[in-house]
Amino acid sequence: ASRVTVRTVLEYKEQGRPVVMVTAYDYPFARLADAAGVDMILVGDSLGNVVLGYPATVFVTLDEMVHHTRAARRGVERALLVADMPFLTFHLSVDDALRAAGRLVQEGGAEAVKLEGAGRVLEVVHRLTGAGIPVVGHLGLLPQRVHALGGYRVQGRDEAEARQLLDDAVALEQAGAFALVLEMVPRELAAAISRRLRIPTIGIGAGPDCDGQVLVLHDLLGLTQGRVPRFARRYAELGQIALEALQRYAADVRARAFPTDEHSYHMAAGEAGSRAG
Ligand code: KIV
Ligand code: NA
Repeated sequence: ASRVTVRTVLEYKEQGRPVVMVTAYDYPFARLADAAGVDMILVGDSLGNVVLGYPATVFVTLDEMVHHTRAARRGVERALLVADMPFLTFHLSVDDALRAAGRLVQEGGAEAVKLEGAGRVLEVVHRLTGAGIPVVGHLGLLPQRVHALGGYRVQGRDEAEARQLLDDAVALEQAGAFALVLEMVPRELAAAISRRLRIPTIGIGAGPDCDGQVLVLHDLLGLTQGRVPRFARRYAELGQIALEALQRYAADVRARAFPTDEHSYHMAAGEAGSRAG
């Protein structure tokens, strides 16, 4: 199948065809997501929570994002590879943001970057797209603002907040974003934003009326430790499967049931060692 590009994604919106997105942070899973025909693969800064064991995304560094983007890159042939701009890498100055995004593209092999928020971020979106780096916006719940928000909860429930979100969405499209992630916003608001924009909205906890959907891979596969958000559907219980496999392995080694002769190498016929046993 032909490669997914920014144009493909915009065409999907025109055709009313859903955009399928999932996160991946390394070579084997990026390969699987690509082989499954997922359209966009996101090296999200959820990397921190689900792979690196951090308590929040604010601990993820640019070096870590570059490292994992490079790994995912090697597994992707068809999907559009997007990397998250981590905490504070796009707030110091527009030049710093360009340099950070440049690393994700040049060193990591990302084809687009995603950044949270609007407001002062709009100028960054404009400059990045101007420099040839496609941008995915991200509105609603912004995990990089967890300390300011005091927790992870639905955004845009009241009239004023909803209006602000709609204005921000329009501003992001105007600044040059080619897609917009909407995280934990009311279904009605996500629907209104999706109708209003020419670029596809990609929902997570934003209801069924968005133009596309994204999930965190580890939530989808049942690999997440601890609490999984209500908006995630688990399509497999790989964590349980892995645990049971490892328990059987440990039991086999302890019972001397593994390895056996089947898993062994032998000396060349006629040599001393093969007769010794
Ligand atoms: O980091 C991430 O996984 C994300 C998705 C939830 C959109 O930003
Ligand atoms: Na993210």
